[in-house]
Amino acid sequence: MHKVDVVLGLQWGDEGKGKIVDVLAGRYGVVARFQGGPNAGHSLHFDGKSFVVRSIPSGIFREGSTNIVGNGVVLDPISFISECDSIREATGIQPEKKLVIGRKAHLILPTHRLLDAAREAAAGKGKIGSTLKGIGPCYSDKTGRNGVRVGDIELPDFKEKYQKLTAKHKEQLKDLGFTYEEKDLEEEKFFAAIERMKAFKFVDCEFFVDDVLKEQPILAEGAQGSMLDVDYGSYPFVTSSNTTAGGVCTGLGAAPSRIGKVYGIFKAYCTRVGSGPFPTELFDATGEELRRIGHEYGAVTGRPRRCGWIDLVALKYAVTLSGVTDLIMMKSDCLDTFDTIRACTSYIVDGKETDRFPFDISDGRVTPVYTDFPGWKTCLADIRKEEDLPEVFMNYVKFIENYLGTRISIISLGPDREATIERV
Ligand code: IMO
Ligand code: MG
Repeated sequence: MHKVDVVLGLQWGDEGKGKIVDVLAGRYGVVARFQGGPNAGHSLHFDGKSFVVRSIPSGIFREGSTNIVGNGVVLDPISFISECDSIREATGIQPEKKLVIGRKAHLILPTHRLLDAAREAAAGKGKIGSTLKGIGPCYSDKTGRNGVRVGDIELPDFKEKYQKLTAKHKEQLKDLGFTYEEKDLEEEKFFAAIERMKAFKFVDCEFFVDDVLKEQPILAEGAQGSMLDVDYGSYPFVTSSNTTAGGVCTGLGAAPSRIGKVYGIFKAYCTRVGSGPFPTELFDATGEELRRIGHEYGAVTGRPRRCGWIDLVALKYAVTLSGVTDLIMMKSDCLDTFDTIRACTSYIVDGKETDRFPFDISDGRVTPVYTDFPGWKTCLADIRKEEDLPEVFMNYVKFIENYLGTRISIISLGPDREATIERV
């Protein structure tokens, strides 16, 4: 049997998963999403063009690939169909020919999106800073055992299930004092999208995955990042799914023994979008410089991302949680001009120094301790061979590898497919 190799974000999302899946997808015939939904925004750049995919696996652009929207994903029919249309228009690719959808994936209804907005508004200052795509309410209905699934579309009582759930949502919206117009329910648009979804093959993902693995490996593409994991992230400022390796098993119906390599992606600095604690956040000119050089604006919402130095305490935690076998470092080229580069190597919590990620990292609880490195002050963007990388830079790379006890096997030096150095 072949294995499911996994690509995971190790920080607060936006690590560059889209680019890496696109690079690796050349080696895998099958790419699968296993959690999350249109809250993801995976950017790809090739042949001078840029794309952002949200619910569709980043493998879609590779010729001959098969792509799976797994059971653990929450799928918004309206946004999914519009994503398919943009891909078709831009590339001529016909997504329905190379994408299958797991029957057990839950559907995001327009009322889930309204509820997301209503709950965030009601939370005031304590809001999560959600992407407002309906992710939290949809997963709540899943675990609350009220959800509507892709496989329900094929059953005769789909409309009743939809009506039952939306009726419940309308009550909840009323309780929250949230006003909306009839058109916000997007009922016509929703059912038109459902009709068009029928052009796709719905599969029992667990059997489909098992059959594929008899023939070839699968690449599982994580969304969000480990620090947004609903169990292990900076709760409650997290997303509503398991973004760590365990999510691959439940999200695809693949047993733990089927998991092969676990690629963990991180940026050479750190970003976060939305609310919640971020120990190494920079509020000064350096933070702004990182945002400017790294173009740190959300691919889904356009929000400016909060920026800070790399947090090795949080990264080590993420590496352990998912059993990362290979690290992939992104965007170190964005640090080219800095005189000094800092890495958080421990926290002070309640007066004690620790390198263990603590239960509570809420603002003020944690003081990061930094180790400083001299900047390499060299443009890395055009370097294509490991031996051409400056020694000062390689010292920084080796320090991170040592700290995390894991090899950095790919160094990405720009958004394009070609700007990738694989270390042998
Ligand atoms: P990709 O896959 C960065 C953040 C939101 C918010 C929190 C909860 O592109 O890395 P949600 O809409 O999931 O209920 O929002 O999680 N968030 C992301 N941040 N990248 C993402 O995805 C994210 N998906 C959700 O900003 O703080
Ligand atoms: Mg993103």
